[in-house]
Amino acid sequence: MSNVIISPSILSSDFANLEKEIKRLEENGADWLHIDVMDGHFVPNLTIGAPVVKALKRIASIPLDVHLMIDNPEKYIKDFALAGSDIITFHYEAVKNNVNEVIDLIKSYNVKAGLSVKPNTKIEEIISYVNSVDLILIMTVEPGFGGQKFIKECADKIKELKPHIKNNTILEADGGINKETAQYCKDLGVNALVAGNYIFSNNNMKEAIASLR
Ligand code: DX5
Ligand code: ZN
Repeated sequence: MSNVIISPSILSSDFANLEKEIKRLEENGADWLHIDVMDGHFVPNLTIGAPVVKALKRIASIPLDVHLMIDNPEKYIKDFALAGSDIITFHYEAVKNNVNEVIDLIKSYNVKAGLSVKPNTKIEEIISYVNSVDLILIMTVEPGFGGQKFIKECADKIKELKPHIKNNTILEADGGINKETAQYCKDLGVNALVAGNYIFSNNNMKEAIASLR
């Protein structure tokens, strides 16, 4: 049992019953709610936007961990911040040249800033930013869809990342997390885990969440 943060992805929840699903997650031990925002450009899928985040904020009592898988995230930070996001994570690959400006923009709203990397992005590319953010999200699948298979080599990038982290930056892994892959990530020093399919496909949500700790 570890004190890892469990952030269930609502992408695998029943969208016709979001309020019930959120209450169910909270009652069964979720620490954060992971909200996957996709634009059909940065990733080949479309999901939800700031109005939905705003509605979820009214009913959720745990932090909203918003994962932007969108191009030009700087255009939408304000909307997601004002909607009530507690953490906004954007993708390095969607910005590249003005990463620091986007981090500062998120922080200007008093929201925690996260930086994410896709499977093929090398850790060395983000080293200069790791101590300016509150969270680093390592994708352990190609972003775009829930229910994919964990890519072990992606998690292994954490070994390279760890020595560069000086602050108490949170290390979060996202994609293909289940009991076994969660253990693999925790052994590497991950302290926050996103899980969608594993939590929602298990008929005992409490046990599923507890098994990731
Ligand atoms: C993938 C998303 C993930 C995904 C995780 O693009 O960023 O958050 O929903 O889902 P599972 O746990 O099903 O891989
Ligand atoms: Zn995600």
